[in-house]
Amino acid sequence: MAETQSFHMTPDEFRRHGRAVVDWIADYLEHIESYPVLSRAEPGEIRSRLPDHPPATGEPVAAMLRDVSEILLPGITHWQSPNFFAYFPANNSGPSILGDLLSSGLGVQGMLWATSPACTELETHVLDWVVELLGLPERFLSSGTGGGVIQDTASSATLCALLAARVRATEGRAGGVGSDGRLTVYASTQAHSSVEKAVRIAGLGEDALRLVEVDRTQAMRPERLDALIARDVAAGNTPCLVVATVGTTSSMAVDPVAAIGHVSRRFGAWLHVDAAMAGTAAVCPELRSINEGLELSDSYCFNPHKWMFVNFDCDCFFVADRRPLLQALSVLPEYLRNAASQSGAVIDYRDWQIPLGRRFRALKLWFVIRHYGVEGLRHHVREHVRIARELASWVEADPDFELAEPQTLNLVCFRHRGGDGFNERLLDRLNASGALYLTHTRIDGRYTLRMSIGQTGTQRRHVEAAWERIRTEASRLAPA
Ligand SMILES: Cc1ncc(COP(=O)(O)O)c(C=O)c1O
Repeated sequence: MAETQSFHMTPDEFRRHGRAVVDWIADYLEHIESYPVLSRAEPGEIRSRLPDHPPATGEPVAAMLRDVSEILLPGITHWQSPNFFAYFPANNSGPSILGDLLSSGLGVQGMLWATSPACTELETHVLDWVVELLGLPERFLSSGTGGGVIQDTASSATLCALLAARVRATEGRAGGVGSDGRLTVYASTQAHSSVEKAVRIAGLGEDALRLVEVDRTQAMRPERLDALIARDVAAGNTPCLVVATVGTTSSMAVDPVAAIGHVSRRFGAWLHVDAAMAGTAAVCPELRSINEGLELSDSYCFNPHKWMFVNFDCDCFFVADRRPLLQALSVLPEYLRNAASQSGAVIDYRDWQIPLGRRFRALKLWFVIRHYGVEGLRHHVREHVRIARELASWVEADPDFELAEPQTLNLVCFRHRGGDGFNERLLDRLNASGALYLTHTRIDGRYTLRMSIGQTGTQRRHVEAAWERIRTEASRLAPA
């Protein structure tokens, strides 16, 4: 019997509404500078404007879009604004949004090669492209023992690296009996909090994490790492994982990966390199020194969703030897068995990540790389670094301000000479103005402003205007 009633959107309706939504996004991005960058919403304000109950009958898309504009936009912090300088960016671009839309349209779930061969093969192919694009070690290519996979975030990549390292350190025993309380993990005091989270999730216990001292540039001291590991080995512990950071979250410090790699190798520990933000810089050959020593690493990750114009979420995770990762994460129930997997000729990415299901994320990365080409990516990354350098020179030239750290890549850490309280008030006033959004950190205990220049649309004029405003607000705040 034919279905007589349907509430589904017809293809024609979808076409019409789809155009309206794309127009809405284009208008939004075109006028994004007219919004206060940091949302001014009070806690609970947005919810108070939403109906208490779900609608009993369907509503028109136009009403939904109107509510997006009127109710939700005031509660949006505009990450895509060229005046967004906070945290690290989560930038996007037209080709990325379109690739993601296609991914939604195709709606495939690529857990196995067999559940959509193109989803897996495009991902493998694009990640091999990324190895070439960034000049990464050939060990990360899928044609050898290693390969790449797209994770949702760098946090997941670190967790996967730890699980693989745990398998290797225990020669597979951890899979059966769990952790024996003797595995240890090392990262600098400046490493991202996701390392601590991974240690907790993996059941090693927080006590297993050793935070290694840093030098004056906030980079890990390899001789301290060496001493800590030697002490642990003497005490009967097993060094499992070392995490080196290329571009720390606080100040973009770069750990000496080569020296750390030699120490890790000597003690048989897995070296994971977290280049979540900075990794994109290696698209420019003149900035590729950030990859120094990477050939000694067992795994590596960076986030195209931070600085490579790919919308959240997209983290590229590479391993030099995929076997421990697969050993850690493969579980094969009967209902997933299929001829292609059993042939050994295909990759099943479900075995390279925590969840079973996975979206077709490679599409947006593929669209971005094809749209910009190597030339376009290099151009924009170079521009951001050039503008950051210029901002650092303005800070240095101003007697009221100082650089807190030498400028690295696209991050500038600086402070007014008026002290912690002054800088805190300055930051609050700047962010309340709506004209820009900055965040802070503490470096050697001192309150420090961070300006991260990596938004897709950020040009010199935005940074110049931001610096002008910072100086003006500071002079208004300063005691006469
Ligand atoms: C160095 C570093 N690692 C990891 C992360 C976590 O990123 P994600 O949100 O992708 O987990 C960040 C976030 O800023 C970071 O700066």
